[in-house]
Amino acid sequence: MKMTVSIAIDGPAGAGKSTVAKKAAYLLGYTYIDTGSMYRALTYLVLKNQADPEKEEEVLPFLQDLEIEWKQEEGENVIYINQHEAAAAIRTPEVTANVSAVSAHPIIRERMVDKQRELAAAGCAVLDGRDIGTTVLPNAEVKIFMTASVEERARRRHEENTAKGTASELETIQKEIAERDLRDSTRAVSPLIKADDALELDTTNLSIDEAVEQILELVKERVHES
Ligand code: DC
Repeated sequence: MKMTVSIAIDGPAGAGKSTVAKKAAYLLGYTYIDTGSMYRALTYLVLKNQADPEKEEEVLPFLQDLEIEWKQEEGENVIYINQHEAAAAIRTPEVTANVSAVSAHPIIRERMVDKQRELAAAGCAVLDGRDIGTTVLPNAEVKIFMTASVEERARRRHEENTAKGTASELETIQKEIAERDLRDSTRAVSPLIKADDALELDTTNLSIDEAVEQILELVKERVHES
């Protein structure tokens, strides 16, 4: 077996990537790397400093200042931005609404991709994002492209919000998800597309455990038996 194994999980927002990736990483004993949180961290800094997320020259200085760290706290990977805990701060509706603009800038992507490759090279890891199998790690041992219908993804997000006691409207969420899909899949640099050699996993009718199970099977076939 090779020393370093990378598992790439890509797909649109709300397909269940992070929950499934986290659980698969835990069961395999691999590190979980949430690449979306890196773009969110940068977006958070940009907005906090009232810079314009649409202008790459305004975003770039914050990338130079950005220091991201993850700490294990009560079994959770908690993100720290420049030494401050920022788990909730990177998931506000404001950050979510602006992260596509920030992540569409070519130089920003180039630097983030370098950082992600560095993190992946440090050990066995499961990475989730949009361009892991196509751009960040084209030689990843296992590639999954996780999808689910827009209706099902909106329903899941709505359920999460309601459980948290956050105000939520199903129709608005559905519209936002469809808009973000369009932006992420039509941007010029590293658009969200399935890598030719990725396995497409439609989770519309799958539970979390069923999706995790399929990934573990694939890892067993591709990595442990090769
Ligand atoms: O997975 P998420 O919703 O936290 O990702 C936030 C945004 O970052 C999403 O709109 C797309 C972008 N992203 C990206 O462009 N490339 C990645 N590897 C991960 C996320």
